Amino acid sequence: MIEGSADSGIGGKLTYGMVGGGAGAFIGDVHRKSIALDGMADIRAGCFSRSYDNTLATGKALGIAGDRLYKTFEEMAEAEAKRADKIDFVVIVTPNISHYPAAKAFLNKGINVVCDKPLCFEEAEAQELADLAKKNKLLFGVTYTYTGFPAVKHAREMIRKGEIGDIIYVTGEYPQDWLITPQEKEGSKQAEWRTDPKLAGKSNCVGDIGSHIENMISYVTGLKIKSLCARLDKIGPGRVLDDNATIMLEYAPGNTAKAGAKGVYWSSQVAMGYDNGLQFRVFGTKGGIEWRVEDPNYLKVSLLGKPRAVLSRGRDGFYPRAQSLSRIPSGHPEGYFEAMANIYKTYIGALIKQKAGQSLTEDDLDFPNAENGLDGVKFIGKCVESSQKGAVWVNF
Ligand SMILES: NC(=O)c1ccc[n+]([C@@H]2O[C@H](COP(=O)([O-])OP(=O)(O)OC[C@H]3O[C@@H](n4cnc5c(N)ncnc54)[C@H](O)[C@@H]3O)[C@@H](O)[C@H]2O)c1
Repeated sequence: MIEGSADSGIGGKLTYGMVGGGAGAFIGDVHRKSIALDGMADIRAGCFSRSYDNTLATGKALGIAGDRLYKTFEEMAEAEAKRADKIDFVVIVTPNISHYPAAKAFLNKGINVVCDKPLCFEEAEAQELADLAKKNKLLFGVTYTYTGFPAVKHAREMIRKGEIGDIIYVTGEYPQDWLITPQEKEGSKQAEWRTDPKLAGKSNCVGDIGSHIENMISYVTGLKIKSLCARLDKIGPGRVLDDNATIMLEYAPGNTAKAGAKGVYWSSQVAMGYDNGLQFRVFGTKGGIEWRVEDPNYLKVSLLGKPRAVLSRGRDGFYPRAQSLSRIPSGHPEGYFEAMANIYKTYIGALIKQKAGQSLTEDDLDFPNAENGLDGVKFIGKCVESSQKGAVWVNF
């Protein structure tokens, strides 16, 4: 485990617990390492797996006291809430099916929640979680990791300041190739649950990675989807859920697109040659912006009447919010851990201020929240609805 050394400068370490993320899991360890990067919170409790042996082994390796290793998340929420030194927040990194009940259990016990995406299966569940967090005055984060990159935040600020004019068209794509072979039948736990509707929900590909495109475009552009037309394909033999999706969109008129805008998203897990190719392009009346996660420290910008430019993180005058989340000088690549750490730095910073009774600014709250999670769940549902009706346009 990486030990964070940086002083947050905000004061006072928080504590957290984790549900999921046992030995052999993917994203839980990424969360722990990213949180440790800034040294603002320590792990103190966990229910890391449905296997208690795994929870005990994972907890021991992380140095967690035995009485704070729990058999179920329900038991953990109950017991932690009674402690004088209860965790400040819980991180939920289980397969999608348990996001809703686990988040609800902790919110009901007055514990702040960070949950991975997609937030849950149904819109009504997501709405309930958002309402519960608000009612209990708790902070709810949803870890759409990729909006944590400084270059993404700079792109957002350029668009908000009108530098590329009115948005007319956007493209978002997220190709991967790991499911070109039937991994779900070859022992990959990650593939098994993602391709099983009981554990993943209504969609595999749109739920798992298309939801990142939806969140990214919404965050960067501020555009609101008006309607969409989706075709979800099941290319791998015997697959019940989608592994490739093509989506056309229309956006409502708004601050960044006075006449509204149009766009297209493509997500795929069967696109040979792509590891993790999340990318967006935003075209406006005065310029265009392009970013891809496999080269995340750079932002391609084309402004009318000016030479095309490639802006470099930490070097080329990023706006203050973006610059403040850049940790090392330009040319020293920052990546996935730092992007996730930026979400946590902001979320934990907001919790610290909230605990101290201080009011929170827009920058303090610049992390994906339950409402963003709700938008994601709605997006997945609308894509499935459109596709099932024969790829027809459906209102959002
Ligand atoms: N933000 C991102 O970029 C990103 C990336 C990958 C995965 N994810 C999301 O993270 C979640 C987990 O994905 P993963 O790839 O790490 O899955 P995984 O299968 O690798 O890990 C899931 C873990 O949860 C545990 N678990 C399952 N049910 C549990 C329960 N009821 N109580 C306690 N533990 C339980 C499993 O034992 C395992 O340790 C998914 O919702 C996925 O969509 C997000």
